[in-house]
Amino acid sequence: MIRQDRNRRFWNRIADRYAARQLKDLPAYEAMLQNTAARLSSSDRVLEIGCGTGGTAIRLAPGVAEWIATDFSQEMVRIARAKPSGENVRFKVADAAEALTGGPYDAICAFNVLHLVDDLPAILARVHASLHPNGQLISKTWCFAEVSPWLRVGFRVLRTLGLFPVARSLTQAQLRQAMRDAGFEITEQRVFGAYPQNPYIVAQRPMKPET
Ligand SMILES: C[S@@+](CC[C@H](N)C(=O)[O-])C[C@H]1O[C@@H](n2cnc3c(N)ncnc32)[C@H](O)[C@@H]1O
Repeated sequence: MIRQDRNRRFWNRIADRYAARQLKDLPAYEAMLQNTAARLSSSDRVLEIGCGTGGTAIRLAPGVAEWIATDFSQEMVRIARAKPSGENVRFKVADAAEALTGGPYDAICAFNVLHLVDDLPAILARVHASLHPNGQLISKTWCFAEVSPWLRVGFRVLRTLGLFPVARSLTQAQLRQAMRDAGFEITEQRVFGAYPQNPYIVAQRPMKPET
C-alpha cells in the first residue's frame, strides 16, 4: 500500500525545491513535449493527473481547447497557479482518483505519477472509463524494479529519512500489462532521455467494445 497522506506531505514539503530545480535533460523534455503536442488537437479536452508545478500544462494548453491540470499537493498547485498561463488551463487540487470523474476526455496525461498512486489497476480503470473511445493515455512512469539494486537501497534509505516518496516497484512489462488489463492498447513506447526505466507510453482506449 502506498500511503497517500505521507506522500502528499512529502510533495508539499519539497514543492518549492521541485519548482526551482533545473531540468537535467532539457532536449529530452522538449522532445517529449513535441511528441505529446503532436497527438493533441485544438478541439481536445485534456486532463492531467499529478501535474506538479504545471510546467507541462502551461506549455501544451495553447494547442488544445481545455486543459485541466490536477495534483493532490496543495503546494504544487499553489506554485502552478502563480505562473502566467492561458485562459484554457485550470489547476485543481485533487488526488488522481478524485480527478478522474469529469470526463469524457480526449486525452489524459500522467507524467511521472502512475508509480505513486495507491491502487494502479483502479486508477487505470478510471482513466479508461474517463476517455472517449480512441482517447489516449499519455504517460511517463518510473519502473523502479529495473533500477540497480544499489540505487534501490539508496531510495529505501532516503525514504526512511523522508527524502523520497513511497513508490511502487514496477517492471515495464508489469506496467504494460496493467494498462492492457484496464482495456488499453499500447500504441507507442519510447524513452526520452537517459533512463530506459522511465518509459513514455501512449495507450489508447479502443474504439470497439473490449471482449
Ligand atoms: C514526480 S512529480 C511529477 C510532476 C510532473 N508531472 C512532472 O513530470 O514534472 C509527481 C507529482 O505527482 C503528484 N502526486 C503523487 N501522487 C499523487 C496522487 N495519488 N494523486 C495526484 N497527484 C499525485 C505529486 O504531488 C507530484 O506533484
